[in-house]
Amino acid sequence: MAIKFNFILETLSALVVAAVLFHVSTAHGDRRKVLVFKWNPIKNVTDPKVVDIGKFAINEHNKEAKIKLKFQKNVKGEIQVVEDVYYAENYRMVIAATDGGGSPHNYLAEGGRREALMVGWWTPIKDLTNPKVVEIGKFAVDEHNKEAKTKLEYQKVVEGEKQTVTDVHYYRKNYRLVIAATDGGSPHNYLAEVADMPWEKSRNLTSFKEKN
Ligand SMILES: *[C@@H]1O[C@H](CO)[C@@H](O)[C@H](O)[C@H]1NC(C)=O
Ligand SMILES: *[C@@H]1O[C@H](CO)[C@@H](O)[C@H](O)[C@H]1NC(C)=O
Repeated sequence: MAIKFNFILETLSALVVAAVLFHVSTAHGDRRKVLVFKWNPIKNVTDPKVVDIGKFAINEHNKEAKIKLKFQKNVKGEIQVVEDVYYAENYRMVIAATDGGGSPHNYLAEGGRREALMVGWWTPIKDLTNPKVVEIGKFAVDEHNKEAKTKLEYQKVVEGEKQTVTDVHYYRKNYRLVIAATDGGSPHNYLAEVADMPWEKSRNLTSFKEKN
């Protein structure tokens, strides 16, 4: 049994900053990049936020179909985070629910939520020696060293682009940097992605890998 649900959220509190963006093709200048947004398994389907989505799906379906399924639990699910002109999360979930007779069934639910966020274009960073850019670059290398227990040494940012995600109550800058660093003395380039919320003094390394 398949359920479709749909909802638009105006609240900004429940934002998940876990976008995994993959380029299909790259346009030049300031033209928008064509992005494909990957589906990823939901790691923890008992997370309260994911449980709310499961309950929401069942409730919506109950209203539409005029039935009375009772949510039991999320069995599994996938999420797709979209950061385009807007921010959205799409879900595909298998939800266990009982019908009037009390017998449990698994339902397949699909739906999405959209946040009222503006996601700006990626624009090249012109001044790669800007103190803020250098700070972000060093942060990426330090974080990666902590996470991966490596000892890379930051040299400089060799290329970069940034993007602003905003709303009245929300401000985040995303950075994608190519960073030159040395690993035991030998030079390498790394591709790092950092999300920065300066007003909240929050900063995360979201991706770090060697650039070929
Ligand atoms: C999943 O989330 C629930 C609720 O937040 C938590 O109690 C549980 O420990 C989490 N499980 C894992 C494997 O992270
Ligand atoms: C960093 O991650 C934490 C935990 O997931 C999150 O609460 C915070 O908003 C994130 N900050 C940024 C700038 O993405």
